[in-house]
Amino acid sequence: MNRKIRKAVFPVAGLGTRFLPATKAVPKEMLTIVDRPVIQLAVDEAKEAGIEHFIFVTGRNKGVIEDHFDKQYELEETLRARGKNEALDKLNEDLPGAGQTSFTRQQEPLGLGHAVWCARELVGDEPFALVLPDMLMHAKKGCLSQMLGAYEKYGGNIVAVEEVPHEDVSKYGVVGCTDQVGDTFRITEMVEKPAIEDAPSNQIISGRYILQPEVFAKIENQNPGAGGEIQITDAMIALMEEQPFHGYQFSGKTYDCGSKIGFLAANVAYGLERDDLSGDFKAVLKEILADSDLL
Ligand code: UTP
Repeated sequence: MNRKIRKAVFPVAGLGTRFLPATKAVPKEMLTIVDRPVIQLAVDEAKEAGIEHFIFVTGRNKGVIEDHFDKQYELEETLRARGKNEALDKLNEDLPGAGQTSFTRQQEPLGLGHAVWCARELVGDEPFALVLPDMLMHAKKGCLSQMLGAYEKYGGNIVAVEEVPHEDVSKYGVVGCTDQVGDTFRITEMVEKPAIEDAPSNQIISGRYILQPEVFAKIENQNPGAGGEIQITDAMIALMEEQPFHGYQFSGKTYDCGSKIGFLAANVAYGLERDDLSGDFKAVLKEILADSDLL
């Protein structure tokens, strides 16, 4: 019987330099897809998967993320006084339960692996989910829920993967694969940001992980890797010598909201899907595209 995944770690300490100046004072995880912050969408996905505890690794200037997951009495009182009950109910619905969130700080942005390591005491000795909020996974059934199905079957460590055009592999962590059964395969190797000719496949690691707690010791013993940062991929490579890793091909669409194109595309896709917006939004988009000679 595989141990239950109760906790999810959300690393949100990155500097978000690709979104400057927007991210000078506002964390990039608070940028919105239509009207929901990117971090809220990541928490929604984890909630749907039955996660009970939400661990945020934040940094300086990220305090507003903590506020976002707290009550806002003044606002609630105002909404109540104005009879805006629907908005009020929605705010309360989104709020994690008492004691279900923890926040710790990564004092220096030394890399994703280091951010995960900062959560080691909060995670403790149990397997956990790692959710990179930048990677917005759009699907009817959430990516993490889908992965839990694979975890029940295979146990160990599971990494969400997706195919990208071969010329793009150098931007990502890439896996080598074998023994594919349905959506899942065994990972034979991993490499972070390989040269195109060295990439073992065009399957990239795409922002959702189920990891065993032994990964923390591997991070601790590791030197900086690609880009001078402590990489989670390097820790997973070390752990692969001792434990199985499977790749899970998630069914749905990924938007890399850490990039401007991914962020804009996600806003268009989510906006077009909203019953309250799609009609007007489509008309406006058509008009803009026609005016810009893009149609
Ligand atoms: P990115 O590689 O997108 O880096 O991090 P970034 O610094 O946030 O953004 P840019 O490249 O400067 O625009 C992927 C995820 O890892 C977190 C980020 O917050 C993001 O969720 N991260 C990254 C940390 O928490 N700490 C780090 O030291 C690095």
